[in-house]
Amino acid sequence: MDCKTKKRLYRNFKCLNKNIPFFPFQYFQYYFLEYRGIPHKQKIRFDGKIAVAKEEDLRELQRFFSSKAKKFERRLKKGHLIVIAQEQDGRIVGYENLDFSAVHLERHSGIEIAIPQDSIYLYDAYIDPQYRMRGVWVGFKNLIGNLMVEKKRNRLMTFIEWDNPTSLKTHLQFGFKIYEKRCIWRIFGKPLVKTESLTQNPQLIRALLNH
Ligand SMILES: CC(C)(COP(=O)(O)OP(=O)(O)OC[C@H]1O[C@@H](n2cnc3c(N)ncnc32)[C@H](O)[C@@H]1OP(=O)(O)O)[C@@H](O)C(=O)NCCC(=O)NCCS
Repeated sequence: MDCKTKKRLYRNFKCLNKNIPFFPFQYFQYYFLEYRGIPHKQKIRFDGKIAVAKEEDLRELQRFFSSKAKKFERRLKKGHLIVIAQEQDGRIVGYENLDFSAVHLERHSGIEIAIPQDSIYLYDAYIDPQYRMRGVWVGFKNLIGNLMVEKKRNRLMTFIEWDNPTSLKTHLQFGFKIYEKRCIWRIFGKPLVKTESLTQNPQLIRALLNH
C-alpha cells in the first residue's frame, strides 16, 4: 500500500472513531522519542510569558481550550504540570503537559507508558495556529530545562503519531531521537500492542517526514 493511501485510511479510521460513539476498533501508530540531557536555552520570537500553570490559571486554560476543560482539571489533580504560553493581554495561546509519575495512562489508545525515574514524560503540546513558528514550543523546552534541574531528571520522553510529520520535524530538529515504535489495536476498549525498538536512521526519518 502506498503512503498516501495508508494516510487516508489512517485518517478515515480516526474520523470514524471520533464521530461514532463506542466504535469497537481503533488503530494507532506511535513513535517514541527521547531527549537526553538538559536542553540549552534558545532565543525565541514570542514576547509573552511562558510559565508553569498555577491553580488560578486553570479557569483561563479551560476558557480558551474549552473542549479540554475536564482533562486539564484531571491532569492537575493527578499532579501533572502544565506549561503555558500567555500573551501580554492574558490570553493563553499554547500549552504542554508534563507527567513526573512512574506510569502514564495514554487515554486515546489505552496503553500504559512507563516513565523511568530519570525522565519526564511530555504530552499533548498545542500552540494556537496564529502563534506557531515563533518558538513557543522551544520556549517550553527552556522552562522544562529548569524543571529538569529542579527535579533531578535528565531525560525527556514523548511520542508523536505516525501522521504528524510537523511535530516530528520540530522534535528532531530540537535533538529528540526516535527509539521505539508501538502499533496499537484497540478492540472493544482493550489495547493490543506491538512494540519495536528502533534506531534512528535517515531512511526512517525520510519515510516519516515525506508522507
Ligand atoms: C508541533 C507544535 C507544538 C510546534 O509548536 P511551535 O511553537 O510552532 O514550534 P516552534 O516555533 O517552537 O518551532 C520549533 C521548530 O520546529 C519546526 N517547525 C515547527 N512547526 C513547523 C512547521 N509547520 N513546518 C516545518 N517546521 C516546523 C521548525 O524547524 C522550528 O524551528 P525554527 O524556529 O528554527 O523555524 C505546533 O505545530 C502544534 O501545536 N501543532 C498541533 C498540535 C501537535 O501536533 N502537537 C504535538 C503532538 S506530539
